[in-house]
Amino acid sequence: MKHARLKHRWHFHLRLITAVFVLIVTLSVAGLSLYYVDRRQTPQIDTREYRRHSGYRGISTRVVQYSDAGRHYYLEYPRTGNDNIDRAVARWIDDAHELIPQRDPALEHLAPESVYASYMVRSASTEHISLISQLAVDRDTGTPTRQTSYWTFDRRSGQVITLEQLFGDKSVDGRERVVLYLRQALADQAKSRGRALDERALATIHAADMRNFLIVDRNTIEFDYDLWGIDTTLRLDTDRLQLYLQNNLARRLLDITPVVTSRATASPTSDRCIRTRCIALTFDDGPGPYTSHLLDVLRDRGAHASFFVVGNNVQLRSSLVKRAVSEGHTIGNHSLTHTSFTTMRPERLHHEISETNTLIQRATGGQPRYIRPPYGAVDADVVRTIGEQGMSVVLWSIDTRDWADRDADTIYRRVIASARPGGIVIMHDIQPTTVATIARIVDRLQAQGYNLVSLDEMLGDTEAGKIYTSL
Ligand code: NI
Repeated sequence: MKHARLKHRWHFHLRLITAVFVLIVTLSVAGLSLYYVDRRQTPQIDTREYRRHSGYRGISTRVVQYSDAGRHYYLEYPRTGNDNIDRAVARWIDDAHELIPQRDPALEHLAPESVYASYMVRSASTEHISLISQLAVDRDTGTPTRQTSYWTFDRRSGQVITLEQLFGDKSVDGRERVVLYLRQALADQAKSRGRALDERALATIHAADMRNFLIVDRNTIEFDYDLWGIDTTLRLDTDRLQLYLQNNLARRLLDITPVVTSRATASPTSDRCIRTRCIALTFDDGPGPYTSHLLDVLRDRGAHASFFVVGNNVQLRSSLVKRAVSEGHTIGNHSLTHTSFTTMRPERLHHEISETNTLIQRATGGQPRYIRPPYGAVDADVVRTIGEQGMSVVLWSIDTRDWADRDADTIYRRVIASARPGGIVIMHDIQPTTVATIARIVDRLQAQGYNLVSLDEMLGDTEAGKIYTSL
């Protein structure tokens, strides 16, 4: 009995030991496999996070590092003190690196790939933060890939400030103007590299796609483009866009030279345009091959207009300038070579203005009193120089963008829709579409009761060194 009990106890022990052993093995296998599954699926292993200063007041960097599935990640997230900004940038980084394709398993034996996210603060103030974010994947095979994005945030609300908001009620014209400058920059770049400009690629640039911008400093904004693999950075002096930046948001972020509107300062030679509906059509960049036909159309309808002529074209077609004056139109100065005044040395600027005045004097017997700088680009120095020559700057209040659209119906609709008494309309008589549609425009405006007047008739004596955009 004692022996039997012993035997029984031994059996019991054996079973217990076996059970414990099985349990240990099971747990180990389960644990190990969980460990490996975990290693493959969640990237938290090796994660290190730390803060670093960005060099900008109140902005630090959260660095996250980990390795996962044959890739090393090194991600820098900005901490700006505003959660909305931090979340927006973090979302972009996370979305961008999730879009990186899975690594080919056949390459797993190679050195790990690296994924870097970094950002750069372009400028920051109590009002805003402008920053660029970049995600790069370095591969040991194939080419590295890179994505960038850039934003300007309102530092208080944490919301993105779009280009549309920056231009306010001038957002359509303002963005068109940026597209114009971008096209010029790309044309210059192609020229300096001895390549032809790809017009079809240029046609893919649309003002409506211009969403974000960067502030470099209070006088400069920047646009970064990746067009057909060419990185293009366009930096613009705010003076070149000032006509479109006359709003409070722009003034809060940038130094904007105020544009003097003229109702207070203009003294029309007659008060006709105060008593009746007047509108001033102005034509830039000529005289050209279509100007003579344009003069016929205006003469037949008893309409007056103004021509801002380019000095070099006056030399080629001085008889047209003479004819325009004899038929009651105003001639204004539009530079000698159609180069932006804001990028010129003072001597060159002086020459561009006075040489054109001399050419106009020679053709017509009179000196112009109005000048419209190419692209409407003026800054305080340019306006002062113009004032010293006894002239005033005349810009416009109605932009037809006829140089961009070259579509008769679009130009017609735009003029009619935005016509206002005292308005100054900008068009180009070197554009055949514009000249082809002008009879329709004049007929319609006259039917609406407008007097089509020259600038001499509308503005009369103006103050030298002032900017006029309408009556
Ligand atoms: Ni022009």
